[in-house]
Amino acid sequence: MPKILYACSELHPLIKTGGLGDVAGYLPVALKGLRQDICVVMPAYREVLARAGELTAVAQLIIPGAQAPVTVLEGRVPGTQIKLYLIDAPEYFDRPGGPYAGPEGYDWPDNAARFCVFARAVVSLALDRAGLNWRPDLVHCNDWQTGLVPALLAQESKRPATLFTIHNLAYQGLFSWAHFQSLGLPPQLWSTEAMEFYGQFSFIKGGLIFADRLNTVSPRYAQEIRTPEFGYGLEGLLNHRAAKLSGILNGVDYSLWDPRHDPYIAQNYNSLTLKLKAHNKADLQRRFALTEVKGLPLIAYVGRLVEQKGMDLLVKILPELMRYPIQIAVVGSGKKALEQTLIQCAAAYPGRMGVYIGYQEELAHCIEAGADMFIMPSRFEPCGLNQIYSLRYGTIPIVRRTGGLADTIVDTTPESMKSGAATGFMFDEPTPHALLAALLRAIGYFSSSHKWRALAKQGMQQDFGWQKSAQQYISLYQQIIKESAV
Ligand code: ADP
Ligand code: GLC
Repeated sequence: MPKILYACSELHPLIKTGGLGDVAGYLPVALKGLRQDICVVMPAYREVLARAGELTAVAQLIIPGAQAPVTVLEGRVPGTQIKLYLIDAPEYFDRPGGPYAGPEGYDWPDNAARFCVFARAVVSLALDRAGLNWRPDLVHCNDWQTGLVPALLAQESKRPATLFTIHNLAYQGLFSWAHFQSLGLPPQLWSTEAMEFYGQFSFIKGGLIFADRLNTVSPRYAQEIRTPEFGYGLEGLLNHRAAKLSGILNGVDYSLWDPRHDPYIAQNYNSLTLKLKAHNKADLQRRFALTEVKGLPLIAYVGRLVEQKGMDLLVKILPELMRYPIQIAVVGSGKKALEQTLIQCAAAYPGRMGVYIGYQEELAHCIEAGADMFIMPSRFEPCGLNQIYSLRYGTIPIVRRTGGLADTIVDTTPESMKSGAATGFMFDEPTPHALLAALLRAIGYFSSSHKWRALAKQGMQQDFGWQKSAQQYISLYQQIIKESAV
């Protein structure tokens, strides 16, 4: 049985900023369920220490650059039997705020040093230099925060195999030459064949170049990042490594995201009791101070308010869209300008549009349960989880045909309705006009409650549980380990 070390920078329910947290919180559980020998390692942020429960110090590491010895704490991922290692370097991780940014939303200025210390600690565990008597066969790294791990391991003659998962190529961990110099890294890493990227120090390149294998979180995104439109200048490298790059669609955790047993929502329901969803809609209308009328479609969004997600497109079509009898609820945080604009929009349409700026797990569940439609007008989307959650809640996704959105939703046409395959509404161009056209199509369908219910039920029957993805990861792990043994 191969031993896997899973390295990540966020993990639900300890700390989460987006989908990576959801995936890290559940993929290892699914793998363990399939009898894999897996441990998880992440930084001991303040919030994580507060939530992790019982922890034992099991090792001390001397890490170049860190003022004090770094402690390895051992515990369990809450609610599971999975061994969790926390890298406790208080000068880097014990502070208020998020994993990557301070309370004001600005990136921590010492992020290069923070994730360098983390990577060096992961490498110590990976090479069994921390005295834990456990040597993984493979280290599974996730996103730029772990990009240095494959790069540092590649400098070793006897090392475990490495897999680097790209959850989002737009976040690359770019820093200056001065940062590189200050970290005391092997000088050969500063090269365009290594981690230098147009004069900058790129953490993600460490993963892209040095990992034995690469994968993205949907098959379509694995193709997209090989083009200039989605590759950010890394498409040449990704094409060069195409034989080592694949896509594995994320699964979702239905123990947390299913209206049959979701503890956050006003009323549980299933596909046979779909009528009960109306209680959740009324609850959502109250929470967002929307007029409590029945029969209007309630269109919702939950997510980060950044360029990627395309919510500025919704802002642009509001005057036109609001001519129709609809309501809107939005939960999110991110770019301050967009947050402000959305607040102003809500003020302009009292009783018809509600906005909550901030991060609120419970509200995210209430949106899934209470809304009729969930929009994701993303410019790009490596996988996307909310559209998959929406399917299970009988909330129809309206998505742009890109990345994981294209891989998980089937557009509604007379044919796909007839065959029972339709699950949502899709549009192609990332333009306000295309989004509006898709919304109007959905609003048209909504007026036929019979058709709408059929569509919702089709979505609720879809199964995107982790089983299939986890099996694919296991095959990939086995292949990589086999290849690297030769
Ligand atoms: P991304 O990882 O790009 O942010 P995903 O769709 O993969 O997008 O995952 C987003 C996850 O983060 C979902 O679980 C979503 O519910 C959650 N989320 C994002 N923003 C918020 C918020 N403001 N409040 C609550 N949950 C949020
Ligand atoms: C990223 C992507 C998102 C994906 C998530 C989990 O944050 O933006 O599409 O679902 O990672 O893999």
